Amino acid sequence: MSNKLHKNFIAGAWVDGASVGLNFNPSDTNDVIGEYARADAAQAAQAIDAAHEAQKQWAQCTAEQRSDALDRIGTEILARRDELGTLLAREEGKTLPEGVGEVVRAGRVFKFFAGEALRLGGEKLPSIRAGVDVEVSREPEGVVGIITPWNFPIAIPAWKIAPALAFGNAVVFKPADLVPGSAWALSEIIARAGQLPDGVFNLVMGPGSKVGQTLTTSRKVRAITFTGSVQTGRAIGMTCMERGAKVQLEMGGKNPLVILNDADLEQAVSVAINGSFFSTGQRCTGSSRLVVEDGIHNAFVAAMAQRMAALRVDHALKTGTDIGPVASQDQLDQDMHYIELGCQEGGRLVAGGELLVRETPGFYLSPALITETQNTMRINREEVFGPVASVIRVKDYEDAVATANDTDFGLSSGICTTSLKHATDFKRRSTAGMVMVNVPTAGVDYHAPFGGRKGSSHGSREQGTYAREFYTSVKTAYTLA
Ligand code: UN1
Repeated sequence: MSNKLHKNFIAGAWVDGASVGLNFNPSDTNDVIGEYARADAAQAAQAIDAAHEAQKQWAQCTAEQRSDALDRIGTEILARRDELGTLLAREEGKTLPEGVGEVVRAGRVFKFFAGEALRLGGEKLPSIRAGVDVEVSREPEGVVGIITPWNFPIAIPAWKIAPALAFGNAVVFKPADLVPGSAWALSEIIARAGQLPDGVFNLVMGPGSKVGQTLTTSRKVRAITFTGSVQTGRAIGMTCMERGAKVQLEMGGKNPLVILNDADLEQAVSVAINGSFFSTGQRCTGSSRLVVEDGIHNAFVAAMAQRMAALRVDHALKTGTDIGPVASQDQLDQDMHYIELGCQEGGRLVAGGELLVRETPGFYLSPALITETQNTMRINREEVFGPVASVIRVKDYEDAVATANDTDFGLSSGICTTSLKHATDFKRRSTAGMVMVNVPTAGVDYHAPFGGRKGSSHGSREQGTYAREFYTSVKTAYTLA
């Protein structure tokens, strides 16, 4: 373990926290990755004050200056992909290729928003009054509070921080307690390579009850973007609503993947294995409900069980590992609880769901498949957030659509079919924000709008050109010349 304390970055300086936290490797709990400062509410308030002060200067920089800063940050992230990907896999538990892939995604996000900084335009409308000009432009919101989850320790911070900075906002970034390593490394790059005015970007690691709470309630923070659990998201949403702050919430999913009789079986199994179990199933876009038409049901379940038996669950950094460990003991407990619950409710565990012993002590769980489930069961209503998928047998296409849409969530959905008619119809009728045909429900492009409907999301879309909606405020100006 490195003895160096990884500090918070507030008002352009690296500062000690009120306490220190340790970061553990879920593939090997004897491996302590490092010590990380933990701020209290007073330090969070200092960061907010600094951001509030610095934002004015940042907004006055040229778009090119902001673009160049993001470009430099993106270049360094991409150049250090292997090192950062290793750190990510070590602290979060996704496999090394998945970790490196996520780092590349983060780098490309910065490159994309380097371009967006220059593309932020407005429009001019004809007025209904003679001689009057109507101009619509976009301005920064001010200080943006960024609260991120543990499952994408660098990509989600990147896709929130990059657009915030691109459009002239100052940032106070609070990463997940569980995975401060990648967040700290990203922040160090932003702080150095970005060459930003002091206070424009602040890293405040620490507990949600102190740092998160201060961000959410501070009048100087004009906008909060949050990805995480439904419970925390709703509480943040209510607080922001009460004080009139802008809020964007990305919460859970209970995403259906429909497998029709006419699907290419081999392809459907690959899509389901990826969507349900890759990244250890810890993706809000994961396919947790496999909605399978009667005629292909038995062949699909048999092929899944066979493919699952060949998946190697092991240390995230080991060559050949397909599935890394679960990220924490708490998450492992939750996964086991739901596997048990699914069986108690009448489901049948036909593959996996076992705790595994490996060379190093870690949270190893074989991916679980539970069949004979009904869509009304809790295993099909509540987000598990682990390598656990349930199968719901449906009698025909209409039954499949109704079942897929019968959920309080609406993040992503998918269908495996060779029928143009069914694919087209499903894209129209799915009540999810993202619909996938013959590709996994998880693993999205970094330049396309990301977000869901119903209980999954609140506010405007993340990523791509659509991100400007959240990170800017529209101004309509009328002029009589
Ligand atoms: C993806 O599926 O590529 O927390 C991204 C999550 C989502 C991100 C998923 N916000 O899992």
